[in-house]
Amino acid sequence: MIQLLNSNGAFLSSDDTLIQDACTRAGIHIGVWSLEDLAHVEGDAILASNDVQALALEAVKTPLGELKSRFGYQYEDIVGLTPQTPNLDGILNAFRPEHHHEDDEVRVILHGAGIFGFVPPVGDAFELVVQKGDWIVVPAMTRHYFYLTDAQTIIALRVFKESPKWEAIY
Ligand SMILES: [Fe+2]
Repeated sequence: MIQLLNSNGAFLSSDDTLIQDACTRAGIHIGVWSLEDLAHVEGDAILASNDVQALALEAVKTPLGELKSRFGYQYEDIVGLTPQTPNLDGILNAFRPEHHHEDDEVRVILHGAGIFGFVPPVGDAFELVVQKGDWIVVPAMTRHYFYLTDAQTIIALRVFKESPKWEAIY
């Protein structure tokens, strides 16, 4: 379930209407998938094994197909960050400052959690905690930043068009 935080990371709400209002102001799209079919898949196993990744993709086939056709995406892959990730601090330091990309940043959270921050043109800045089952579409050119919760673990499906341009532009 997505949670709304203020720009200092303090909890504000898990109310759907408030969260949707904030997302509309920032021009981003969110939603939730039921990932019960993934309940037996340990998060770290998703990263470690191609077979488990295939299983995870099979489990989300229907909602993934809907998301791809809604936004015109063609491909997906699975990525993750854990405390064991080499150069984790360096990677996080690249995502933490406000930036944008030339293509949409789409993440479906399969395990763990992450926090996206937004400074919309109107209204208060806010952050969203995304956790297992949540998805987020940050459209191209939308300013945002990203960091991890204390558990420092996130495994997510990335969904994209051909040759995505995900270089962070600060
Ligand atoms: Fe980004």
